[in-house]
Amino acid sequence: MAESRGNSSLASKGPLPPDGGPNLHEFKYPDASIEWIKRLDGEDREGSEAIVYRVKIASQDYALKVFKFSNPKSHAFYWGTRLQNELPMKKAIFYTDPFYAECRAYGRIGDGRVDRHSKSPRVRQQTAVECYGYLLLSARDERWLIEQGHDLKADLDREVREALEGDTRVRAIVKHLDESPGSLHAGNIGRAWKSVSILNNSLKIYNMDIKADNFIGFRLVDFGSSWTEPHEILRYLDKVSKDIAKDKRGRHTQNFNDMIEEEEINTRLRVVPTSRYQLRSRGKAQWAGRELPKRRTRTIRRLD
Ligand SMILES: Nc1ncnc2c1ncn2[C@@H]1O[C@H](COP(=O)(O)OP(=O)(O)OP(=O)(O)O)[C@@H](O)[C@H]1O
Ligand SMILES: [Mg+2]
Repeated sequence: MAESRGNSSLASKGPLPPDGGPNLHEFKYPDASIEWIKRLDGEDREGSEAIVYRVKIASQDYALKVFKFSNPKSHAFYWGTRLQNELPMKKAIFYTDPFYAECRAYGRIGDGRVDRHSKSPRVRQQTAVECYGYLLLSARDERWLIEQGHDLKADLDREVREALEGDTRVRAIVKHLDESPGSLHAGNIGRAWKSVSILNNSLKIYNMDIKADNFIGFRLVDFGSSWTEPHEILRYLDKVSKDIAKDKRGRHTQNFNDMIEEEEINTRLRVVPTSRYQLRSRGKAQWAGRELPKRRTRTIRRLD
């Protein structure tokens, strides 16, 4: 029987985030009950921002990614910069929280183009594991998750609760379930690079977390760290440090190359640095982090 999700006065929220940028629609069965079948991500993932379960909803099996609440104050680009003065907490959440990062990325992927009103052709290639929308979980599902030991609200303080206007229903994203997730290998690495390139260059989704775990076959599955343009942090970086903004938009090549090496994928395909100059941070801002690559990289080519 369908169960009402949480407080009935907090009904559907419409596409999220509600700030005029790319956004994700609600799952088609917002009120259907969820049968929790088994955990899909590994145990002991302390640093993880989410947990993934195989679930059954309205007789169909899905992968359900359940997100922890995060606090913009623990995001270096918020607390460590003047962005905290420019961007109210309510809006900062849309640009720093992994749930909203996935909503924005999957909203853009669903549209298939950067501007949904543009006349440019849609990008139709399958670059990501399919997403069917977001879900706000019922109080009963939240209790079940707590019983399993998932502390989803540890980062919620008074300020964040206020910014969320008291609506702290647990957020989740429904995806196609891959029964036997394939890994990256020599045979699909080129296609995986194509996925990353299309997302980056055509859809302006910067994944920021290119690693083997975040692919299922040649498709990306994890957009929890992604920045999708227009993005307030990139807008800020464009103003204060064009080099760092450029690095953030272009880091996928270096990260992809690192991944090929770390995974020891037996391929002659390599991301090759092509920059004519070294890209470096000019300042010592804490938020610049240690992630800046020494070289900007751009193309991929076969090594003979
Ligand atoms: N649709 C899916 N089908 C099958 N398995 C999945 C699916 N989505 C995720 N998984 C499994 O769960 C793991 C974790 O998923 P994902 O990378 O999206 O979450 P995460 O790393 O916890 O997120 P975050 O980086 O935001 O903390 C994947 O590496 C994969 O093994
Ligand atoms: Mg992941």
